Amino acid sequence: MYSRIAGTGRYLPEKVLTNFDLERMVDTSDEWIRTRTGIERRHIAAEDQTTSDLALEASRRALEAAGIEASDIDLIVVGTTTPDQLFPNVACLLQDKLGIGGMPAIAVEAACSGFLYALSTADKFVRLGEARRALVVGAETLSRITDWKSRDTCVLFGDGAGAVVLEASETPGILATRLGADGHFKDILYVPTGVSRRKPPPGETADQTIQMRGNEVFKVAVKKLGGIAEDILERTGTPKSELDWLIPHQANIRIIQATAKRLEIPMDRVVLTVQDHGNTSAASVPMALDVAIRDGRVQRGQMVLLEGFGGGLTWGAALLRY
Ligand code: COA
Repeated sequence: MYSRIAGTGRYLPEKVLTNFDLERMVDTSDEWIRTRTGIERRHIAAEDQTTSDLALEASRRALEAAGIEASDIDLIVVGTTTPDQLFPNVACLLQDKLGIGGMPAIAVEAACSGFLYALSTADKFVRLGEARRALVVGAETLSRITDWKSRDTCVLFGDGAGAVVLEASETPGILATRLGADGHFKDILYVPTGVSRRKPPPGETADQTIQMRGNEVFKVAVKKLGGIAEDILERTGTPKSELDWLIPHQANIRIIQATAKRLEIPMDRVVLTVQDHGNTSAASVPMALDVAIRDGRVQRGQMVLLEGFGGGLTWGAALLRY
């Protein structure tokens, strides 16, 4: 048994923050942001919009695309770093908003790899026959943990949600997923405080916002993304030349270009949304997938590689025949 993608959806909050808006907030320029990151604009959630609200809209669209009702779902897995509240988890809140209940509702926290961790989890349930139709979501309100006074980070992030309905299928579908993590990199991309650590560690004054050593993250990201992609292709016996699309985490266009180069995939076979969405963490890969399916680029039967990396550091990839 395999899982296959039956439908996708995405939701972006209405408010758009452009690089020119940011020029008025911190000492930066549209030119710097575009050339260093590829980002031109990002969406920001309204004050009363929570992560589960964004997840709900994306989920409704994915259910519609799959041609099923919420009540047909028998598993929910949500990847997020910015849950509405400590508990109930976002998957339970989404379940309630969808008006369904009873099935497991799992939240996965793996920063920007959250969707790949969620997808890999749901895929296992479907393969083992424990779920037939799973709703898999990546949703974030990163704007809530962004330091809007720091030009080092505030130009990078945005809010949004992407959702996928997975269904059981005798033919693939998802061919393989690979996940990895290395906690030794905990100090290069992190939020210093949380629930049981309420004060920043000694020597740090940072608050509950994203802290990052951008250069170091960049180097490790390129290395790990290239490595995991080659690994998944090798394990499934898939030549690079068979890949129709690379849909990477949308953090920085230069990281994406470096990964594509290593995989020998021309940039016109890489789905890019970083210019419009910025880095939306766990939401970035499912939103990019939805964009490329809805605009007709990704066609049924094509081979697609999804991949991402994030704080932890964590990384993940999924190879699928759409
Ligand atoms: N506007 C203008 N200048 C800025 C700036 C901004 N928003 N942010 C940083 N700078 C300055 C720096 O202060 C530095 O100035 P200096 O040379 O006078 O010291 C200069 O730009 C270059 O900084 P550097 O950090 O070397 O730039 P970079 O080319 O590495 O790009 C990032 C910075 C953050 C865009 C890049 O490192 C990156 O994308 N890293 C990965 C981050 C990431 O993906 N994080 C999320 C992972 S899920």
